[in-house]
Amino acid sequence: LDRPRALSGIQPTAGSFHLGNYLGAIRQYVALQETHDAFYTVVDLHAITVPQDPAELRANSRLAAAQLLASGLDPDRCTLFIQSHVPEHAQLGWVMNCLTGFGEASRMTQFKDKSARHGADRATVGLFTYPILQVADILLYQANHVPVGEDQRQHIELTRDLADRFNGRFGETFTVPEPYIVKETGRIYDLQDPAIKMSKSASTPKGIVNLLDEPKVSAKKIKSAVTDLETEIRFDEEKKPGVSNLLTIYSTLTGAAIAELERRYEGKGYGALKTDLSEVLIEWVTPFRERTQEYLGDPAMLDGILAKGADKARAVAAETLAAAYDKVGF
Ligand code: ADP
Ligand code: NA
Repeated sequence: LDRPRALSGIQPTAGSFHLGNYLGAIRQYVALQETHDAFYTVVDLHAITVPQDPAELRANSRLAAAQLLASGLDPDRCTLFIQSHVPEHAQLGWVMNCLTGFGEASRMTQFKDKSARHGADRATVGLFTYPILQVADILLYQANHVPVGEDQRQHIELTRDLADRFNGRFGETFTVPEPYIVKETGRIYDLQDPAIKMSKSASTPKGIVNLLDEPKVSAKKIKSAVTDLETEIRFDEEKKPGVSNLLTIYSTLTGAAIAELERRYEGKGYGALKTDLSEVLIEWVTPFRERTQEYLGDPAMLDGILAKGADKARAVAAETLAAAYDKVGF
């Protein structure tokens, strides 16, 4: 295979992925299966950077995998696995920790945000070093491209710096990856506060569309999305962030260009746009929820997919780790 490699990780979240996760990241995972040798991992090691319930974590990891498969990941065309099944992640993570400056790690804005939310004195060292484990996740697979949302750009930059540093100090070992961020959907905004991104940790319940919620509930959230005091349906992220966000979601879910949507809704009000978009959303989430339930209803199949994925991932990861350990002097 001489396709470029792709790697991305996603945390097993309680309950459900949200529309920002799907449009910003997962949709690209699905597309890159066609062009890349693609590895996708449910990063359960990252999930214990904040306190977890063991049984819930195990269930959430399977739920995450089921949702990824329901989104269109095909285990015959990509490698899907659970991070903790491949111990090389933690092993290379240690090496990367030892290459990272304390000040450099301290500049990661996600840590500042997350530790502030959890209470600075309760933040763990794991939460602090989590971007460095993410570096190892990516470098182990010699990834060329990392499909993520805009909020991950700084972590990919750190990955590039550490790959360069390791290569410079010990000789050519790691591929220096590039972020794969789709401009249009790299940041989906909160429906109630289009100044912030839709996020499981920052959004209010009304601002976030969870993919596994009752479709009627999500439709209602679209209908009560915050817009502006004008009536014109026009894409303008500066002046009309709420409407622009709805147009982005609409355009991405249907494939209709934004300009075409602007034409279609000329002279119509926000109500018409919201009603139609809520129908579009219901049409998308209904089969998604059914497929997720099918995967969850067949644990043997799901476990089989994940076991096979771990084997495939491990073969690649072990080879990279061996090369890196050798260079380091182990
Ligand atoms: P959250 O920010 O809700 O905690 P995660 O950190 O688990 O979500 O993100 C998983 C993936 O989804 C990452 O690639 C991230 O960049 C992407 N992502 C998260 N929120 C958004 C959003 N609002 N818009 C676009 N992409 C997003
Ligand atoms: Na995030």
